[in-house]
Amino acid sequence: MEVPSLEKFDRVSIIGGTGDQGLGLALRWAQIGLRIVIGSRDFDRAQAAANKVRSLLGPGAHIEGMENTAAVSAATIIVLAVPFRGQLETIKSIKSNFKPGDLLIDVTVPLETAVGGRASRLLGVWAGSAAEQTARAVPAHVDVVSAFQNVSAAVLQDLSRPVDCDILVCGNSPENKARVRSLVEVIENCRYVDAGPLENSRIIEALTALLVSINIRHKTRHAGIRVTGLAE
Ligand SMILES: NC(=O)c1ccc[n+]([C@@H]2O[C@H](COP(=O)([O-])OP(=O)(O)OC[C@H]3O[C@@H](n4cnc5c(N)ncnc54)[C@H](OP(=O)(O)O)[C@@H]3O)[C@@H](O)[C@H]2O)c1
Repeated sequence: MEVPSLEKFDRVSIIGGTGDQGLGLALRWAQIGLRIVIGSRDFDRAQAAANKVRSLLGPGAHIEGMENTAAVSAATIIVLAVPFRGQLETIKSIKSNFKPGDLLIDVTVPLETAVGGRASRLLGVWAGSAAEQTARAVPAHVDVVSAFQNVSAAVLQDLSRPVDCDILVCGNSPENKARVRSLVEVIENCRYVDAGPLENSRIIEALTALLVSINIRHKTRHAGIRVTGLAE
């Protein structure tokens, strides 16, 4: 499978890009020159987050802030990085802005915090996983790939260090997994690991709750995943 080069990417929009995880991804991608749109329910919050990225990376960073619907219309690769409690409501609000061929990268994890519980516990999801729920909710012409659930926002946002983490990627389209691979491999030290079909996302999402639990025990915010034994 050919891995597309970055020149083939137009813009990448991050829905929920004002939050910890979305902002971390925005920083890493804008740092290497990708054109990023930060999406928010509120235009001013999106602008403020874009300004924050610009202040950290310099005025040359290709970063814009837009309201979520405009952010979806502006890109062909869209990242969904909102809390699980807002996942379906967010998709409903942006659904009509997707275009045929769009790729939606779902980062959502169904942590128990969505219903007032602990971040170290996972909620059961009727569809099997947050990513499969997303796939059911978006229009049929949008492909969903699940990725970036096991890398911490604190690690992504700390630009003084490379990201010491494998990114486990699940999806049903080899072409779109290859597009995600490009987005993984541009982040220094990140390794793409093909983790199978979208239904495997339920296992990857569960690992995030485990990592939160490990973080609490080890008094850190940096726990991540490395898979050993893979041929390069
Ligand atoms: N933080 C991590 O280390 C981490 C690691 C792996 C995976 N994740 C997953 O990534 C997703 C985002 O995590 P996060 O920590 O970045 O979350 P967050 O900071 O709490 O929220 C991200 C953004 O989502 C929007 N949002 C918040 N509540 C919402 C609601 N009820 N409905 C719609 N939009 C809402 C907000 O943007 P606006 O108000 O600007 O619209 C917010 O800035 C979650 O599903 C999380 O489980 C997080």
